Amino acid sequence: MKTKYWPEKGPGLDREAMREASGILRRGGVVAFPTETVYGLGADGLSPRAVRMIYEAKGRPADNPLILHLAGPEQLEWVAADVSARTRLLVRTFWPGPLTLVLPKKDRVPSEVTAGLDTVAVRMPDHPLALALIGQTGTPLAAPSANRSGYPSPTTAAHVLHDLDGRIDGILDGGPCRIGLESTILDVTREVPVILRPGAVTREALEQVLGAVAQDPGLDGYLRPDGPGTPRAPGLKYQHYAPEARVCLLSGTSEEMAGYVRERMRDADFLRENEPVGLLLTAETEQALRETQGDMNFGYVRVLGSRGRLPEIGERLYDELRRCDLEGVRTVFAEAYPVQGVGAALMNRLTKASGQAPVELKKELKRELKKELKEN
Ligand code: TXA
Ligand code: MG
Repeated sequence: MKTKYWPEKGPGLDREAMREASGILRRGGVVAFPTETVYGLGADGLSPRAVRMIYEAKGRPADNPLILHLAGPEQLEWVAADVSARTRLLVRTFWPGPLTLVLPKKDRVPSEVTAGLDTVAVRMPDHPLALALIGQTGTPLAAPSANRSGYPSPTTAAHVLHDLDGRIDGILDGGPCRIGLESTILDVTREVPVILRPGAVTREALEQVLGAVAQDPGLDGYLRPDGPGTPRAPGLKYQHYAPEARVCLLSGTSEEMAGYVRERMRDADFLRENEPVGLLLTAETEQALRETQGDMNFGYVRVLGSRGRLPEIGERLYDELRRCDLEGVRTVFAEAYPVQGVGAALMNRLTKASGQAPVELKKELKRELKKELKEN
């Protein structure tokens, strides 16, 4: 299949592109489009046949349900069986924006969208191209992230083409995504709403509006001593967000990280197995590294942003993970973040990409010191 590419057009809408893209969607095709979070792979959310095409293009497991994208709150009535006062309050506060709500579904929502569940996930994206596309197609668009299943979500049109060129009908380029991490998913069918996936709408922000908010205990498996549980959003049990390179998460101060990385880079055995090494660091840690060992070669070093500005790091994370693969990196050392605010979303994605718990550097450095003392 030939994938049609509609380039980015200034600030206004490319009406011809919109007309073509919505026409393809109405005829049951699949088209990738930008949102404020990540690129989505859209299809007519009320057509079982069209929705099956999404699963096929992505290689997505059939038991992983999709999010329906709406052009406005009034379209909630199309797909949700029960819209409570609490849901309306959330919609007024956070839509359009990166908050997906899990609600009781109407019968007309195909089971292909919900993977057989009796709930449906919906959101209104905060992006003019997405809203125009949904509006012009005249139906909710089912859209997962437009990546090959398991790989980091796409935050540029180039990422989408890298993964899906030739497998989808078209892609609307809207430039890089503003947020770069997938939406927060909140299950509002429970008495106390439950966060199923953390995102840019933080737990703290939700609590301000709702009071008590719970978090799915299966979420932060690798961050807790009792290991991974099974998350309630079906999709989150699969391997996710993972580049080809092995990701090793390091948790500690900038100085501890600099110390640890320096030791590893001196270790010939380690390098033989892991080179080329990539480092995804904050500006603070990169500086600590340079200060202690100015002219040493640390491999492929990328600065994601400042420790004080986590949203910026979220914006760049997936692009940098993908770049590591393009550079042929075998092992990525990625800096860990505090699990507050957007940090919760960052750490959720990073622990999944890594597939294991972060290395606690304080403990690790102590252990190595002891070993050294013994050996001498
Ligand atoms: O920001 C986003 O949400 C992006 C953009 C394109 O909107 N979309 C996205 O979709 O991340 P996807 O398919 O990659 O992730 C959807 C997640 C999956 O983990 C899925 O299991 C969960 O939402 N989900 C969908 N319907 C659900 C439901 N009824 N109950 C619980 N979880 C659900
Ligand atoms: Mg996804």
